[in-house]
Amino acid sequence: MAEHPAYPVGLRLTGRRVVVIGGGQVAQRRLPALVAAGADVVLISPSATPSVDAMAAAGEIRWERRRYQEGDLADAWYALVATQHREVNDAASAEAERARVWCVRADDASAATAWTPATGRSEGVTVAVLTGNDPRRSAAVRDAVVEGLRDGTLTAPAHRRPRNNPGVALVGGGPGDPDLITVRGRRLLAEADVVIADRLGPRDLLAELPPHVEVIDAAKIPYGRFMAQEAINNALIEHAKAGKSVVRLKGGDPYVFGRGMEELQALAEAGIPCTVVPGISSSISVPSAAGIPVTHRGVAHEFTVVSGHVGPDDPRSLVDWESLAKLKGTLVILMGVDKIGAIAEALVRYGKSEQTPVAVVQEGTTATQRRVDATLATVGETVRAEEVRPPAVIVIGDVVKVHTPT
Ligand SMILES: C[S@@+](CC[C@H](N)C(=O)[O-])C[C@H]1O[C@@H](n2cnc3c(N)ncnc32)[C@H](O)[C@@H]1O
Repeated sequence: MAEHPAYPVGLRLTGRRVVVIGGGQVAQRRLPALVAAGADVVLISPSATPSVDAMAAAGEIRWERRRYQEGDLADAWYALVATQHREVNDAASAEAERARVWCVRADDASAATAWTPATGRSEGVTVAVLTGNDPRRSAAVRDAVVEGLRDGTLTAPAHRRPRNNPGVALVGGGPGDPDLITVRGRRLLAEADVVIADRLGPRDLLAELPPHVEVIDAAKIPYGRFMAQEAINNALIEHAKAGKSVVRLKGGDPYVFGRGMEELQALAEAGIPCTVVPGISSSISVPSAAGIPVTHRGVAHEFTVVSGHVGPDDPRSLVDWESLAKLKGTLVILMGVDKIGAIAEALVRYGKSEQTPVAVVQEGTTATQRRVDATLATVGETVRAEEVRPPAVIVIGDVVKVHTPT
């Protein structure tokens, strides 16, 4: 028979009986997609891997603990044959042929009536790749397409969203390294018409945007009689109302000292749809990039993230420094470079040891990252002497001294 290419099709398996014979690694890999497709999966196998066993225990599949018998494929719409015994696979696929059930064979693709493509999903798109007899190439093509859709290098924007009101995405860009944005954030960025960006965050990504994208520096939006934040809200609303797809690119996570909720509320009041994409906050990623775990077994069982933008004696401060001084765990201070001297003094005044280790990490995750170590007694002076500048994350606690073994 001439070798024709396989005919691709999407099976709609919801509620339909699918029989899987053999409970090993192949079943373990294939079962989640069958379950996700809503199939009524029956597994026939005397044994199964722990993961497959767990799926049966959770009621996701029905497991008949026995060997395959003639007749098992009655009423099946689709079968997967994957035992370690050639004769069992032969018998089951022969039954499938007679019963006209499409059947995948793990041990012999050439004897199968169906092949499983390499599949992947990105935002509602299923990618399925068949290359005939080269599964590695199928997987590589699948990865390239899925990755391209995810990071926006492969765009298919034409009919993706109604263009009359695409709205705003508040995207947490992570701490600065362009690789530390989420895949969803990166894709939305690649689809944007207008990007309003903060000073912090992955600024390098802006250089990759195509020339038609309008990039607006949030710090430079003129705000006249408005507060700066109000002017940013107005700019978001104005561009979205003009039918543009707007990304508000923020440093870290939009809701960690990021005023993300204020922007969301303003957009909601203006009737503009808004989606929020979480980001990796500098409060954990910057210490991590500098080799500091914010928790460590036997050292710190909690970490507290605090804004240091107003000093401890400032009446506007909402922070209870006295209580913080009593905590045993890690303190992570954002926006605290200017006030660290006063903060350290307050913590010592309220009972924390002067010798408590402190690390100040400036411009974390970027090429200019630097770490300066001190103690609560010395940090104010050290930050001044070393000319540490914002943005910096300050970590206070014994985790600062936890090192990788050398
Ligand atoms: C207005 S807050 C925004 C925090 C952000 N939403 C987040 O989740 O990381 C800005 C502060 O975050 C910290 N920060 C943000 N990115 C940083 C980085 N790459 N290196 C050090 N500190 C950073 C600094 O303390 C800075 O003053």
